[in-house]
Amino acid sequence: MASDHKSDPKIRETMNVHQYFPTEVYTFENKELVDPVVAALNPIERGQFNIPFTVQTTKGNLHILPEFKELTDWIHSCLREIKVEQKFEMWGDFEISLMWGVCSPPHSGGCHQLHRHPLSYWSGTYVLQEGYPTMFQDPVYARSHNQLEIISSEYENALPAPKHTPGTLIIFPSWLLHFTIPHQGDDWRANISFNTFPTGAINGGPFGQNMLNVKLVQDDSTDGFVQGEEAHDIASKRTSSPGYG
Ligand SMILES: [Fe+2]
Repeated sequence: MASDHKSDPKIRETMNVHQYFPTEVYTFENKELVDPVVAALNPIERGQFNIPFTVQTTKGNLHILPEFKELTDWIHSCLREIKVEQKFEMWGDFEISLMWGVCSPPHSGGCHQLHRHPLSYWSGTYVLQEGYPTMFQDPVYARSHNQLEIISSEYENALPAPKHTPGTLIIFPSWLLHFTIPHQGDDWRANISFNTFPTGAINGGPFGQNMLNVKLVQDDSTDGFVQGEEAHDIASKRTSSPGYG
């Protein structure tokens, strides 16, 4: 056995590394939609709902507003490509179930703490402005629990989105934990984020019966789900700040 601690080329050429259980994060590009989407987003009311209450967020109904139709249609087309790529047994599409704007003013420290997106299959974000990228946490968290952890000069516990420039759409599995670094840029940081759900016939079963047939109700009426004095009190305490310059 070599004792000089150096790599042996003969041994090295027989070594293979196998990436098991990779996580797919997709990106698509469309710069033409950036300006019209910023113009559509600008007048929409925003509130501060996420700890530490630095990011401004719109209602999650942008996907059913006509001024966002072009963006919504394009995201649906991108989701269809992912469905084909994954060879999923489903005969409908991934539909956006919730879509909202997120804006951080310049030097605001606007950020999202580590989170995932419940009740979503793929989630995503469309980048409108320069700013700190969305950060994804290593989902193989068990390796960072190793009691004999040897620090690698290469391994990163969290990675930035593969690309994060205006016009980039990033789509990731909703279970993948992610966060943003406090925004201290000179300009606004703005994104359109969304959740999706599979619709139509899903998963073939015996005698041709699918395991699930899904139809989403696309309705932004709050009558059905905001109820009671408590919900009203919470809503009334939120500050809102329309227009982001
Ligand atoms: Fe998120």
